[in-house]
Amino acid sequence: MENPSFKRDFIDRAIKKVNHSFYFYDLDLLKHQLNNWQKILPDDITLWYACKANPLSAVLKVFRNHGFGIDVASLGELDQAMASGVKPENILATGPAKSKEYLKSMIDNEVGMIILESTSQAKWLNQAAKEAGKKIKALIRVQLEWTEGESVLGGKDITPFGEDESTWRNFNWQELEHLDILGIHVFQWGNILDLPQLKSLWNEMASRCVQLANDMQLPLKLLDLGGGLGIPYEANQKPISFYDVAKELFQLKKKFQLENIYMELGRFAIGPYGHYLTRVIDRKTVRGKELLVLEGGINHMVRPAITKQPFPGELYRQSSAPLSTFQVHGPLCTALDKLGDYQLPNDIAPGDWMIFHQCGAYGFTESMPFFLCHSLPAEVILYNDDLMIPRWPRPSIDWLV
Ligand SMILES: Cc1ncc(COP(=O)(O)O)c(C=O)c1O
Repeated sequence: MENPSFKRDFIDRAIKKVNHSFYFYDLDLLKHQLNNWQKILPDDITLWYACKANPLSAVLKVFRNHGFGIDVASLGELDQAMASGVKPENILATGPAKSKEYLKSMIDNEVGMIILESTSQAKWLNQAAKEAGKKIKALIRVQLEWTEGESVLGGKDITPFGEDESTWRNFNWQELEHLDILGIHVFQWGNILDLPQLKSLWNEMASRCVQLANDMQLPLKLLDLGGGLGIPYEANQKPISFYDVAKELFQLKKKFQLENIYMELGRFAIGPYGHYLTRVIDRKTVRGKELLVLEGGINHMVRPAITKQPFPGELYRQSSAPLSTFQVHGPLCTALDKLGDYQLPNDIAPGDWMIFHQCGAYGFTESMPFFLCHSLPAEVILYNDDLMIPRWPRPSIDWLV
């Protein structure tokens, strides 16, 4: 992948002001993209923003202002969405860890749609709805059995997300008078960049969900396919076109005679609009390998350690020096803190900044910021051509007790 372009003048200003590692989110570019999506998207395909990808309130507000509901997966995300001005009826709640108390608080907060990740949750929600004298909209989440395929969302592996087909098939949902079960949620495949593969997975998922709903005598109005749209992290990867995605979803809806398809987008919706910047602290050659140690690493941006997939990154300043391969590490006292191997101009030196791209999703909140007590990174946004700093760097003295 070509390194994406970025707004150097604003980032220069942010570097001067913040003077520490930071995330930079280009919300003007995000708005532009969402305006384009709104023109393409049919009415009966509903997009939610999965805020686990990036729950910054400014980000939530942009999605809200472009007609997205918000998918929350914890009480913390629910509180954040509501504190950011999202109406509860525009909130959908996923996530496997829903206790009776959490379900009750969702009813009290009038959350619009609740995904039932187990038969127990269905019974608990029904009981809480009965006590509150309400009828609650819900989807059941099924975990389909696949014979092959790896994914962060499970793929063929057994995970805590939903329950299997046979459990739901034997579940007497008609007894749950206080639930309005409108359909099925199914999501086991993340970060897929290949449209034909998405198409074939979605068709298989839809056909098995239609079969399951028939067996359960459940009218299937709504199918929620979760997220899973990938973004390019590697050379030679190309982004998928939203137009093609929307076309596929529309055809799927027609083919399976659904009233609506939901998708909860995280990575695809926000990933490309975030960059992470950090400084080079040290450069050395260790047993013949060129090595850089940066101010921030997996404490600020953990994903490369989990997935072994580096973010696309480069030296921030322009240089015409020849390229060398550098092994790039963060500041933690663990060899896990490796961001990847990068081709960089060989005049790179301590004090230089590096910029990493595609960092808008699964960055700040997915990381392990407290280990070794380095400062937390700042978060900087560009919105309506204004540079704003909703989060300054936080030294450990601010949060250690
Ligand atoms: C239930 C659910 N929906 C949506 C998403 C967002 O997925 P993605 O970032 O692939 O769009 C996730 C990610 O874990 C999820 O668990």
